[in-house]
Amino acid sequence: MIGGSASRKLSWEIARELNCKFSQPEVKSFPDGELYVRIPDDLSGEEVIIVQSTPPPQNENLMELFLLLEAASEQGPKSLKAVVPYLAYARQDKIFKKGEALSLKLISSFIEEAGAEELVVVDIHERESLSYFSIPVKNVTAAPLLGKYFKGMGLKDPLFLGPDEKAAQQASRAAKELGASFDSLEKERITPELVVTSSKELRVKDRDAVIIDDIISTGGTIAEAAKILKKEGARRIFAACTHPVLSGNALEKMKAAGVEVVVGTNTIENSHSLVSVAPVIVEGLRQSVLL
Ligand code: R5P
Repeated sequence: MIGGSASRKLSWEIARELNCKFSQPEVKSFPDGELYVRIPDDLSGEEVIIVQSTPPPQNENLMELFLLLEAASEQGPKSLKAVVPYLAYARQDKIFKKGEALSLKLISSFIEEAGAEELVVVDIHERESLSYFSIPVKNVTAAPLLGKYFKGMGLKDPLFLGPDEKAAQQASRAAKELGASFDSLEKERITPELVVTSSKELRVKDRDAVIIDDIISTGGTIAEAAKILKKEGARRIFAACTHPVLSGNALEKMKAAGVEVVVGTNTIENSHSLVSVAPVIVEGLRQSVLL
């Protein structure tokens, strides 16, 4: 197990659960800003797993992932797997406007070119986009773990709400852990910072609500959903997500809309990583076709 700098704690946890050796790579920057990576241990003939998430600064974290894969692959391991809990650029998985780069397609070819023979990701933005990869990819979900987190919080008749139709499945999976109900809204994104969510009768009066999504980036999606919940009379409002990107003033925006607490996972290691995805990653690795 080799832990990249964006997944230090998570890679330790996974190594502990798998009971495997842990290697700490040397990662530093040259004076001109270029990255230097070295894996000091002998990896020849070993089954190697590299864990490196790619949150902001995405480009640096991606480059570290590519260099770690290349450094490992140079040593002739028996197998080489990459665990990328948060895969950057996954939202640019289509050409939305003529002339755009198909970012995810390029990232997928870099990961393969660098030597990965298998990949594990967590709650990829669109399952279909995994077809850009020609290596086996396991997409595991954190939704039940997020649901479990809310179990002991004494929520009043909770409603799990997906802020758009795509998040309905996440809401349903989390709700199942508590035997709670779920619903979803309809959202249209106007610009990267602006979303418009259609109002809906939610039957949430005097109940607690958890808005759950794959990513919280600018917080706009959650804030819009929270405003609707408030209008519909929700008692307390919480937000949960797999990937707490939390850019700019996301937290302030959600708080102003009435969100009390933001619960994320450690696919991105920050002060909102309250749930560990180690168990589902371990499960994904155990189902590996290379083991
Ligand atoms: C979009 O479809 C995603 O599932 C999230 O809803 C979105 O990425 C959240 O972004 P933001 O926090 O910027 O509204």
